Amino acid sequence: MIGAKTVIFLIVPIILLNYLINQRIERPAPAVEKNGYFGEGDTRKDDEAIEAFQIEISKERLDDLQKRLQLERLLPKLDSTNRPSFKFLELLRENFGKFDWKQHEYFLNTFKHYRTEIEGLKIHYIRQTLPPTTGKQVVPILLLHGFPGSFWHFYKIAPLLSNPHRYGFDFGVKAPLLFDVIIPSLPGFLWSDKPTRSGMWTGDIARILAKLLKRLKIESTFVHGGAILGAEVASSLAVLYPKLVRGVHLSNPFLIPFCDLQTTAQHSVSYFGYNNDVDRSSTEIFEVARLFQEFYPRSGDAIGSSLYNSPWGLTANLMSFWHEYSNGNYTAEKRKQLNEMFTVDELLTEIHLYWLSDTAPHALRLLENINRHPDLCALSMSTVTRPTSIVSTPSSPFRFSRFQLSHKFHNITRYNILPKGGLFHSLQDAHSLAADIFAFVELETL
Ligand SMILES: *[C@@H]1O[C@H](CO)[C@@H](O)[C@H](O)[C@H]1NC(C)=O
Ligand SMILES: *[C@@H]1O[C@H](CO)[C@@H](O)[C@H](O)[C@H]1NC(C)=O
Repeated sequence: MIGAKTVIFLIVPIILLNYLINQRIERPAPAVEKNGYFGEGDTRKDDEAIEAFQIEISKERLDDLQKRLQLERLLPKLDSTNRPSFKFLELLRENFGKFDWKQHEYFLNTFKHYRTEIEGLKIHYIRQTLPPTTGKQVVPILLLHGFPGSFWHFYKIAPLLSNPHRYGFDFGVKAPLLFDVIIPSLPGFLWSDKPTRSGMWTGDIARILAKLLKRLKIESTFVHGGAILGAEVASSLAVLYPKLVRGVHLSNPFLIPFCDLQTTAQHSVSYFGYNNDVDRSSTEIFEVARLFQEFYPRSGDAIGSSLYNSPWGLTANLMSFWHEYSNGNYTAEKRKQLNEMFTVDELLTEIHLYWLSDTAPHALRLLENINRHPDLCALSMSTVTRPTSIVSTPSSPFRFSRFQLSHKFHNITRYNILPKGGLFHSLQDAHSLAADIFAFVELETL
């Protein structure tokens, strides 16, 4: 006979756990400063002019890169069979010397670049839009890159969104639409100025982007962002400035596992298949925790100084992220080499963008700040009420179920798994992503 006490011992915790896991709580956003200043010297008013910008790397800087590459020592090889990435790095190395930066610079400058000062920093952005035509809705969309990424991740999708017909895309059948595409470089990345004061975090970035939108006279916009960082910034913008955001489109959003009891409990039970429509391995709590630690370094400057001085060190570092984030779902044997997923030219372009703009050390500082910020959990757990569309990709290192995500995103209108790619799928399969964005926006603008 099972005694009444045993029943209580068994049932009560299960009821409590069930309540904890399923309870939908509205979590308000933490207070974020109304203003900040990250430029040189004393706080002063911004120069609000918007200037056209062109990428132009000096000959000295390019010669310096070649000189450094020639001086660099390569790590001696280990047993190459269990380190297939060596083969890929050799290929990359061979092509590094032949890479014609000026030709790529010319191509990058075919996009329209601008800079404008916000909180003491010149913020760089690309804007692609057709002149208004009758009968078509022009809808603004902000595309947010993450780490280690840049506007380069959107070079394929920007034309599809801004000029769909030109590329054989016939979206928006019910309400013909095209996008006013705005791609900012996050502060410290590429040709957005580097903060000279410490402490910048996601809340500050969201505010800076809100000011950019205001300066561009955009009253409300769609926002797309992917992990790592891009999706967090996009969600933060929706949490802190809901009126500015018409809808949020996220690729592979990440939920920090240990921020509160509910999330921890959800991760733990989803491992056993409870309320879990995704792969088990990708939601295991320790794995998710490990990934989180990997995203946000504890001591950015320690690694940053090496990446600031060694182009080959930077290459190896960036490529290890790319490899992991594009192969996350597979065991070692099934993993693909990066050149099977991206062109060598695409990879070298990104490496050059990072090296020539000194992005890596500043990006690491930013990630470290975010990690140390006392409101990190408060902001990343706070509820997004704006309509949200989520895509995840098969080779992402993680995937959260719709159930788990619905506790942060209270209005998920679409949740799709795209056929191809990892965290950098906008380069691997821009068409599927564009199609998904159009479908979401069409739903919201009808
Ligand atoms: C979710 O968003 C859709 C589309 O904008 C809207 O029609 C619906 O009322 C929203 N639902 C909630 C619960 O806010
Ligand atoms: C991992 O890959 C397999 C096979 O392609 C797929 O069925 C599964 O859904 C993937 N898991 C995740 C988390 O994407």
